[in-house]
Amino acid sequence: MNEAFFDKKQYKPLDRVDGRLKVTGAAKYSAEYALPNMAYAVLVGSKIAKGTIKSIDSKAAERAPGVIAIISHLNVIKVPGHRPEGTHPSEPPTGGQPLRVFFDNKIYSNDQPIVAVVASSLEKAQYGASLVKIQYDKQEHKTDFDGNMQSAVLAAAAKKNPKSPTADYDRGQTDAFQSAPFKVEAEYVLPTEMHNPMELQAITAHWEADDRLTIYDKVQGTKTTQKTFAKEWNIPEQNVKVIATFVGGAFGNGLHSWPHESAAIIAAKQVKRPVKLVLTREQMFTMVGYRPRTWQKIQMAATKEGKLVAINHQSIGQTSTYEEFTESTLQQTRMMYASPAVSTRYRLLPLNVATPIWMRGPGEATGAFALESAMDEMAHAIEMDPIDFRLLNYTESDPDKNMPWSTKYLRECYEEGKERIGWKNRKLKPGSLRDGEWLVGYGMGTGTFGANRGPATVRAELDIHGKLVMHCAITDIGPGTATAMVQVASNTTGITAENIVFHLGSSEFPDAGLQGGSSTVNSVGPAVLAACNALKEQIITMAASKNGTAFASARPDDIMFEKGEIQLAGKSSAKISLSDLFKQNNIDKIETTQESKPGENGKKYSMNAFSMHFVMVHVHPSTGQVRVKKIVCCADAGTIVSPKTAESQMIGGATGGIGMALMEDAVMDHRFGRYVTKDFGDYHVPVHADVPDIEVYFVDKPDLLADPVGSKGLGEIAIIGVAPAIANAVFNATGRRVRTLPITPDKLI
Ligand code: MOS
Repeated sequence: MNEAFFDKKQYKPLDRVDGRLKVTGAAKYSAEYALPNMAYAVLVGSKIAKGTIKSIDSKAAERAPGVIAIISHLNVIKVPGHRPEGTHPSEPPTGGQPLRVFFDNKIYSNDQPIVAVVASSLEKAQYGASLVKIQYDKQEHKTDFDGNMQSAVLAAAAKKNPKSPTADYDRGQTDAFQSAPFKVEAEYVLPTEMHNPMELQAITAHWEADDRLTIYDKVQGTKTTQKTFAKEWNIPEQNVKVIATFVGGAFGNGLHSWPHESAAIIAAKQVKRPVKLVLTREQMFTMVGYRPRTWQKIQMAATKEGKLVAINHQSIGQTSTYEEFTESTLQQTRMMYASPAVSTRYRLLPLNVATPIWMRGPGEATGAFALESAMDEMAHAIEMDPIDFRLLNYTESDPDKNMPWSTKYLRECYEEGKERIGWKNRKLKPGSLRDGEWLVGYGMGTGTFGANRGPATVRAELDIHGKLVMHCAITDIGPGTATAMVQVASNTTGITAENIVFHLGSSEFPDAGLQGGSSTVNSVGPAVLAACNALKEQIITMAASKNGTAFASARPDDIMFEKGEIQLAGKSSAKISLSDLFKQNNIDKIETTQESKPGENGKKYSMNAFSMHFVMVHVHPSTGQVRVKKIVCCADAGTIVSPKTAESQMIGGATGGIGMALMEDAVMDHRFGRYVTKDFGDYHVPVHADVPDIEVYFVDKPDLLADPVGSKGLGEIAIIGVAPAIANAVFNATGRRVRTLPITPDKLI
């Protein structure tokens, strides 16, 4: 590895390489593909939460102008992958299966898509949809989480395998909690939250032949989506092309394939025309997943000196009745602090709702709200500074996996963040600091997320003009993946960023996983590195054969490109122009395809990114209004490859954390099993006025055990720990401990 790679002084952080395309509107999103003879589909959703469809009266809709087809379970074409349970030896898979749209007359949740109206224009499809009349046989639904918690069950995966991440876990003495001198026991509730990216979920489906499908689809994984629909239609994977060149935010709801995607693909096949389907904002609340409502209980015990003795952590998350969704709510409790005894219990509560899905930080962010609040409650109980309390229980190795950390620089985060937020102004006694009328409080929260590296392949071509073009199937849901990959390539080769292009977002490109779980830079980055090094090898071979011995013993790290020349490090006289070299060899470009994948280090080291959020809030004592005044985000994410986009990602995560702490709440009317918050008028997210000065600090030390780029991932730790930091700051300001999010003014007055 070239040392210059890590030396920020040696390179200028790039601006977003696709920034201009995005701000000028030239970037093309899934809803913006206009294909010849395209039709438009609109989905009609169920008005009940449980029961069956008795009848569908579509006569008026059929007669409406421009309506081409009305598709429901009554007339849908055969979808090979939509089979009844039990008709295949391996089905149903553990934990159920995704909803099979239009499969039968069963209703599992409110607004479940049950009819697609296809018409020659969007307006005609909308009008047609308004004329469809549906009658139901209603059954009693269960949507009320709080009233049904006793029905929570162990996840099917855990029943099957006691080593599953969701299985019951006990470490140390299971009754340690009972006998300790200091105890905290509390319940925490996180409401259902919606991803609500700016871009609506959209798909344009086109059957190019009876067995060849192209979709322009808003997804986080082009290859995973390709597999899903190849299986659904029983056609070869290479016959399914998935294009997701630009994605306008996703936060997790593109990690799963949803009924509306199947519906558009069915409709396109059935009407034999390309079909575009764009969800409405209201449908974004019901059809593409959400962060599941989760109840948690923590029992935490410590000695009077502040040493943790035991943590018992229980969690119940909601899921649908047809598909189990599980997440890692409790994992960090097992490894974050040096507690000799830890027990975790994870349960699922199936309700008549649609299936949830990971939402930024996912379960770890949910779990951190409980764990980091409880840590603050304990620090308060033993009258200790919360940072000192955490430092006293700091772990120098992973107590769950019983392995050393690959790297952990959380101490640096505590130190730096403490300075930057002005922690010295914090009062140990809550409610004792004021700024004019406002109560002032300081809080903190820690976060961690696994450095989840996966395999990735990159194709790279270098032409005679010194232009480097790369391709990879990975998507970019917003963090600036192409920018980061151009930066990796530029740092590795010396080629300037203007001469590097990174194409992504197509299943036609070399394999990569999905963009999720903070795994892109540490998975695709190494493939870029490998491809650049392979190109350098080819150049060294050519240069050595034609230009004598200077290049003969060179290694990829020894050469760099500068102004169209290949230079040998340390021997500035040894250089050759790229175009001369290519001409001598009668070629106009070289190319390579390189895969990079995790090695054995995961078996020896526990690899995790860490974050630390410090928050200062003002709370108005009479109105209960909370103003977040400052956030300092500190992250140990390994090498920060692209400093500018990385900083933006941290700011975005902290902003999401403000929403989680203070605003976001999907409210359901359980009489109907239906959300009443269906737009941004009712479902609140932070706006600019809610977002204070956010400072970002990166430890920026490479973790070369994790991957050759040294990155540990950033997307999730940007939000994990923010909500408890805010809740802890509110407690410090007011003495009020709010354990049910969001912290709205009514909970403080
Ligand atoms: Mo993320 S919740 O892995 O998009």
